[in-house]
Amino acid sequence: MRIAAITPSSKLTQSLKKILEKRHDFEMVNIEDEPDVVFIDISELENGFEMAETFKASHESEIILVSTKIGKEYFRRAMQVGARDLLIKPLNSEEVLESLAKISSLLKRNKKGHQGNGMARIITVFSTKGGVGKTTIATNTAVCLEKNTGKNVVVIDLDLEFGCMAAMFGLKTNPNIVDLCNTEGPLDPEVVEKVLQVPVMTRAKVLVAPPTPDLAAAVEGDGRKDKHRNYVSEIISILEQNYDYIIIDTASNFRETNLTALDRSDKILLVTTPDIPTLQNTGKCLDILLEKLDYNKEKIQLVLNRSDGAIGLTETEIIESLDYPISYRIPSDGKVVVKAANLGEPFVCSVPQKPISQSIDRLSKSIAIGFGDLMDSEIRKPRNKKTTFFQRLFEK
Ligand SMILES: Nc1ncnc2c1ncn2[C@@H]1O[C@H](COP(=O)(O)OP(=O)(O)OP(=O)(O)O)[C@@H](O)[C@H]1O
Ligand SMILES: [Mg+2]
Repeated sequence: MRIAAITPSSKLTQSLKKILEKRHDFEMVNIEDEPDVVFIDISELENGFEMAETFKASHESEIILVSTKIGKEYFRRAMQVGARDLLIKPLNSEEVLESLAKISSLLKRNKKGHQGNGMARIITVFSTKGGVGKTTIATNTAVCLEKNTGKNVVVIDLDLEFGCMAAMFGLKTNPNIVDLCNTEGPLDPEVVEKVLQVPVMTRAKVLVAPPTPDLAAAVEGDGRKDKHRNYVSEIISILEQNYDYIIIDTASNFRETNLTALDRSDKILLVTTPDIPTLQNTGKCLDILLEKLDYNKEKIQLVLNRSDGAIGLTETEIIESLDYPISYRIPSDGKVVVKAANLGEPFVCSVPQKPISQSIDRLSKSIAIGFGDLMDSEIRKPRNKKTTFFQRLFEK
């Protein structure tokens, strides 16, 4: 990989040269030589973040920011400008190599995989039963997909009345989807991009739901500025052009917004839990998806959430009762799930080693493999025990 540095003094270049001198897989080059990765020393530059953002907008290179200061606000800014990492000065060789190795494997995958060419993969997390874990699964799956593939991921909270995705990511409720539906004239990628929010701990972006239930009407009901427009469909069409994965969280119904999302989806993750009322509900939901909406079986994957809570029911009984295979199992872990929701940090970031995080990591890898964005061998790779900078930052 070709590495360059942007810094007013030569110190950063010197320390990178020293760290990389024995590595034949990395080569220090000039900034004009189309480097794969550029280190930008934001603490030595005036308006360092702005400079990094301008650079990223006009170059293909991945960027790593270097600073004397760190903290959540710095991380948020780093993610917003599109950096892959933020490293503290003086540079630690292990951290530099770890960060470069991650980018190297992402670049290799991106060469093979989907290129964000107007064909985003759309994955809707759905159920007709409330409280089964849709939002929990959508949030954490989006973070894992971004982390594992390095692709551009956006999450849409389509639970228009009571969506709480903003809280799950520690975001504010403004700007939100209503801002898009109140825009004069046709929507364009620039307008949509301005309304997306960037959480601290991931590069995945989020389109937040309306802050109060009455505002849902501005998106899908009589409160629409133009009653002939399907804003949800328009927003999906725009995001589809610039993102590789669109993850959609839904409310538990078959109203128009959800039908739009389900129709546009490549994959539906149908969430259920191992209790009779929910399984009966899921059975009816499957009938509608397969028979009334005529979706094929490949499109629908069943996720058994709280899979270890099946008291008095065997998994075989569950599968037989639904007459449908279970694709993914997510264990129960109230402590982890509630803590993550209260802190606004997806648990796959804060406690990636917990079984519940690992199960969602496997789910996201399996999805990425299905779409050709990851190789099968990666799903069985043992986890790197060493924590990343992000994990250390958010470790509790
Ligand atoms: N695997 C799990 N282990 C423990 N608790 C869980 C798990 N999954 C979800 N929960 C808890 O169940 C509740 C519902 O989860 P979540 O909000 O994700 O479901 P939902 O389907 O999106 O609900 P709604 O239909 O209200 O939008 C939350 O309190 C959440 O903390
Ligand atoms: Mg929800």
